Amino acid sequence: MYDEPLLFEIGSPGRRAVSLPSDDLPPEVELPALEPALVRADLEGLPELSELEVVRHFTRLSQWNFSIASNFYPLGSCTMKYNPIVNEWAARLPGHQAIHPMWPDVLTQGALALMWELEQMLAEVSGMDAVTLTPAAGAQGEFVGIKMVRAYHEQNGNPRKTVLIPASAHGTNPASSVLCGYRCVEVPVGRDGCMHIADVEARLDEDVAAVMVTNPNTLGLFERDIRAIADAVHAKGGLVYIDGANMNALCGVTRPGDVGADVLHINLHKTFSTPHGGGGPGAGPVCVKKSLAPFLPVPRVVQTENGFKLSEDAPLTIGRVRTFHGNFGMLVRAYTYMLGLGGDGITRMTERAVLNANYLRKKLEPLLTLAQTAPCMHECVFTDQGLAETGVKTMDVAKRLLDFGFHAPTIYFPLVVPGAMMIEPTESESRETLDQFVVAIERIVAEAKRDPELLKTAPHATRVRRLDETRAARKPVLRWRPGAVTASEATTAAASTELAPVAVAATATAAVAVTSADPVMVEATPGEDRAPSADPSTETERPVSPETAPEGAAATADATVASSEAPASPEAEAPASTASEPVEPSAGGEP
Ligand SMILES: Cc1ncc(COP(=O)(O)O)c(C=O)c1O
Repeated sequence: MYDEPLLFEIGSPGRRAVSLPSDDLPPEVELPALEPALVRADLEGLPELSELEVVRHFTRLSQWNFSIASNFYPLGSCTMKYNPIVNEWAARLPGHQAIHPMWPDVLTQGALALMWELEQMLAEVSGMDAVTLTPAAGAQGEFVGIKMVRAYHEQNGNPRKTVLIPASAHGTNPASSVLCGYRCVEVPVGRDGCMHIADVEARLDEDVAAVMVTNPNTLGLFERDIRAIADAVHAKGGLVYIDGANMNALCGVTRPGDVGADVLHINLHKTFSTPHGGGGPGAGPVCVKKSLAPFLPVPRVVQTENGFKLSEDAPLTIGRVRTFHGNFGMLVRAYTYMLGLGGDGITRMTERAVLNANYLRKKLEPLLTLAQTAPCMHECVFTDQGLAETGVKTMDVAKRLLDFGFHAPTIYFPLVVPGAMMIEPTESESRETLDQFVVAIERIVAEAKRDPELLKTAPHATRVRRLDETRAARKPVLRWRPGAVTASEATTAAASTELAPVAVAATATAAVAVTSADPVMVEATPGEDRAPSADPSTETERPVSPETAPEGAAATADATVASSEAPASPEAEAPASTASEPVEPSAGGEP
């Protein structure tokens, strides 16, 4: 991997990436000079580069990214499924890409029809009556949903005070409820990982505005009491919010609307394949039963005799929740995905997602400790309990997985499971890939027993070694400044103690994985946790030593072959850098 400098650090005065044609004005025409007030004199030090330098720079940076397009990404609670290319094609059609939200309805009939049809499809799949596509994320969908719950109760004369939330809920659920002015009351989960009707009834009174249930929950389990819980809450005049972000385990098999939901949100960027990218854009449509439809945000897409139109005619609406109509490109992708699969295809998607998760659950059960032994839905949760004697923790397993070319699972989440490793394979993965992942875990568990230090200092084969993530979060360096630390210095420092730029931290958290095509190198000089730069004059390239190279995972097959031929690197056995502070547990990614 190259130690890529910033654009400001390369190039040379006078280099250009563009050549503009000369103007075709007659020679006698003199262009007026630019207004002095419009000319900036303080733009010193802008990069000057050739086109090739720019292309190589960005191509190299793109290779540092780990993505679902490069390898297995079992990040629990995130449903990192394959994003079909046809979705991108559809989103980039000129009529979709160039459309402007301020165009009049008469010019946007196609887009409005797409939105209207997508609303119908989501209503059908969730068993609900009406949908808003506006929210830009799952969490915003929750906020919108709970705001509607409040509006509904206010309309009935009393907004009520509390929302019941199980301990296994996604963390955004209580946050959204509090934002809407509610107090959250936690409902414990039983030993089976589920919420029980008796525990809900014990907390249920006429101050309860809603119960908010992530189903399947964050342990990957279906809340079996949901129907009885919904009936009990309804009997007290409360509403049922189902967090449907995990619909990848339900679509085409069961519908939240049929088990009592009054309101739910769906993450298009999980279940319906629109890509997660750097925190956005996303889409968190909210589906409601008829009783809540009057409160939906505006504008609404409505069908009239003269075609579709955007309507703001909704006296009880909670109002606008976002500029315009949500992230339209995400809607196009989800629409394309659903049409492509069709009803049967969506059911098969769900069945395979659940099958894959249970396959991994059974295969990994002899190696790691399951948080719950019952069959799971779309994801399974393990703990590091069985590794306690070795001193190896969940964080170490997650970091070592990067050396095998896999993204880490979500770790230390859900919070109800100490040392959780939450694995969500999705339906996209082949049995071969799942088997390779199992082999990697098998090796890692063997390494934990044989050489725990190897895991505690992992990753070894990524561009950046283990980082101080706490410092990266607390003291992020978000801006390049002339004369400040350079990219390569920052990388080194981030890996030791000086500072940890957030971009570098993100790179490590997001798993810069080694693929068979990468020149695999390990920098194991004590005190310097950085993979070597590509500059042969300053660094010696060193192959991965057999001690640090993961064996067996097909994803790193070339690296493994190379390493077994290479002489053992004495440095690789050197004590790990002592520079890093203890790292606070943090999720392997954002669940
Ligand atoms: C169950 C659940 N609810 C809510 C959310 C929040 O969604 P978002 O990250 O789009 O805000 C997530 C995110 O993955 C989730 O898994």
